[in-house]
Amino acid sequence: MIGVVTVNVVGIGGSLRTDSQSERALRIALDGAAQAGAKTTLVSGADLVLPFYDPAEPDRSPVARRLVDELRAADGVVLVSPGYHGTVSGLVKNALDYVEDLREDLRPYLDGRAVGCVATAQGWQAAVTTLTSLRSIVHALRGWPTPLGAAVNSAQVKFGPDGDCSDAKVTATLRTIGLQVVEFATARV
Ligand SMILES: Cc1cc2nc3c(=O)[nH]c(=O)nc-3n(C[C@H](O)[C@H](O)[C@H](O)COP(=O)(O)O)c2cc1C
Repeated sequence: MIGVVTVNVVGIGGSLRTDSQSERALRIALDGAAQAGAKTTLVSGADLVLPFYDPAEPDRSPVARRLVDELRAADGVVLVSPGYHGTVSGLVKNALDYVEDLREDLRPYLDGRAVGCVATAQGWQAAVTTLTSLRSIVHALRGWPTPLGAAVNSAQVKFGPDGDCSDAKVTATLRTIGLQVVEFATARV
């Protein structure tokens, strides 16, 4: 527990595969945030199946409303995407497009929020370019990427269903990212 105020950390990401490696990485980072005293919320899997973001459409589906409401209440965020063709997957990017619905807020977009970024891919090239893309998106959304990010090569590292990971250093990195989100959020609330 870092401070007396409980901060909200929302984790967004993963893929629709049942053993999604990126979702499992996200769960470990969120666990690191929870260990540091945050209230954490996972938005993954079916929670990311949203209509293509349409700025001209005023009505939002219940699933989309939940995503936007969770982000609005968030003090910090963790984003994890699989690398698809060298960049962020369409599923994760479409979810991030909904941040546009926060543009008129007092805290617009991801303003003032720490955002931990993680990418998983079957090779280093896409892992690194996807991590860089996520961090560029966070900058565009006025968020603060944490000092530590993670590019995970899923050809070399395996995440199991119970929070286990074949590489203890990757686990430590992911948990530290969650911790850094909480440290930054706590310093700002
Ligand atoms: C449509 C698609 C595109 C992919 N493109 C790449 C790629 O360009 N480079 C790469 O290293 N891996 C690529 N992969 C592999 C995934 O990034 C990798 O398996 C990742 O860990 C999957 O995450 P998940 O288990 O959460 O679905 C791709 C996978 C899919 C399904």
